[in-house]
Amino acid sequence: MGESLKLGVAGLGTVGVGLLQLLQEHGARLAQGIGRPIEVHAVSARTRDKKRGISLEGIKWFDDPEQLAADASIDAFVELIGGDDGAPRRAVEAALKAGKPVVTANKALLARHGTDLAKLAEKHGVALNFEAAVAGGIPIIKTLREALAANQIRRVYGILNGTCNYILTQMQEEYRSFDDVLKEAQAKGYAEADPTFDIGGFDTAHKLALLTSLAFSTRVAFDQIDVEGIETITQADIEAADDLGYRIKLLGVALMTESGIEQRVHPAMVPKHSAIAEISGVTNCVAIDGDFVGNLLLAGPGAGARATASAVASDILDVARGASPPPFGVPAAKLEAYKRARLGQHQGAYYVRLSVFDRPGAMARIAGHMGEREVSLESIVQRRPRGAQPGIDARPTPGAPTSVILITHETTEAAIRAALDAIHRSGQVSEKPQMIRIEPL
Ligand SMILES: NC(=O)c1ccc[n+]([C@@H]2O[C@H](COP(=O)([O-])OP(=O)(O)OC[C@H]3O[C@@H](n4cnc5c(N)ncnc54)[C@H](OP(=O)(O)O)[C@@H]3O)[C@@H](O)[C@H]2O)c1
Repeated sequence: MGESLKLGVAGLGTVGVGLLQLLQEHGARLAQGIGRPIEVHAVSARTRDKKRGISLEGIKWFDDPEQLAADASIDAFVELIGGDDGAPRRAVEAALKAGKPVVTANKALLARHGTDLAKLAEKHGVALNFEAAVAGGIPIIKTLREALAANQIRRVYGILNGTCNYILTQMQEEYRSFDDVLKEAQAKGYAEADPTFDIGGFDTAHKLALLTSLAFSTRVAFDQIDVEGIETITQADIEAADDLGYRIKLLGVALMTESGIEQRVHPAMVPKHSAIAEISGVTNCVAIDGDFVGNLLLAGPGAGARATASAVASDILDVARGASPPPFGVPAAKLEAYKRARLGQHQGAYYVRLSVFDRPGAMARIAGHMGEREVSLESIVQRRPRGAQPGIDARPTPGAPTSVILITHETTEAAIRAALDAIHRSGQVSEKPQMIRIEPL
């Protein structure tokens, strides 16, 4: 048996404790496999005497993760604190500068500073592994970086935030409002007390930034992502989507186009019977279109102590074996500048829901606004809420707003936005039009 790999682990929360449990349970078997034991030599967290349900006996304690990261007694540093700056960033940089391989689950840090950290890792000849940073237990980083490296990737997309998928699934299956489901998700611990980061699409955007870089060998460009969250999705949209044969999912999409890369996070309509539509609850998935491999879909737990620890541990095993591939698949200096495709040029079909004042000629005028921008319509239907009683609620009150659903043929985002803007300004609708992109699968 070779010398042990001595780990310094910073962060003993959900993932940190999960990792220590995994190493306690499987340590002996893993040591046999790689020919050397993995030892948690030192740890750091905020509160030393917190009860964590695991024994830290015989493990050195550091109050400061930065000191731990550069300490001569450890061989590799594992960062499981979280956050895009401050202590975790300083600690990761200190470890890399001290020539120690780093394993992290921190998507926020990598989305903001990934390219610079990759350069630093390469400069010091050490690994920077982050399998757990995207989609928790799904091994998507190595899949893109290694298993699919020979392909030219056209598109990578997925459901990357369990909280949003849980909310949308519950709205769909239980006919409940967004606010109602969000409150329940918070009570169950699926959603944070401040849920903005998840439901606003930013967590998905962090993960997407990393997938984009791996898929297209470009610098990490989190600030170039168009981000929309799920806050505006109503029960009316969920029901209309269902009637039209779709499900609504929050997708992160990175697409190579002729004018550059589209990186976008937004609610999207996907066909009801597609595999991605069936991903329900907190499950995550990532789909990849590669030129030789074709279409792949990986699905599984995107979070949680055990699934995430599984991904962190696989990175540690790579370190123990001495592997240090470039973090983003190609040397950081060779990562290309990011060329952004303007969302206005995005081509696609759209779902639109309008709250139209029921007046003579209203529909013709709406169709006219669309026609002026060369947006052609596949369908236009007036829709009553489910449960409306025929003969009583079925007939709209003249002049009152009524729900109208449009599906467009393929058009540009600029054209549909201009048409909706004109409709909104014309006073024919009682509220801002709802627009959801239909993602071709
Ligand atoms: N949870 C998941 O399912 C999941 C999935 C994928 C990726 N991740 C990523 O994994 C990382 C950790 O997430 P988590 O859910 O395990 O977080 P968590 O439960 O909030 O744990 C964070 C840990 O960091 C410690 N900490 C905070 N500030 C510190 C500081 N300045 N110095 C030293 N320690 C500090 C905390 O100490 P105390 O315990 O003493 O407060 C705690 O142990 C994040 O980057 C997250 O995005 C999480």
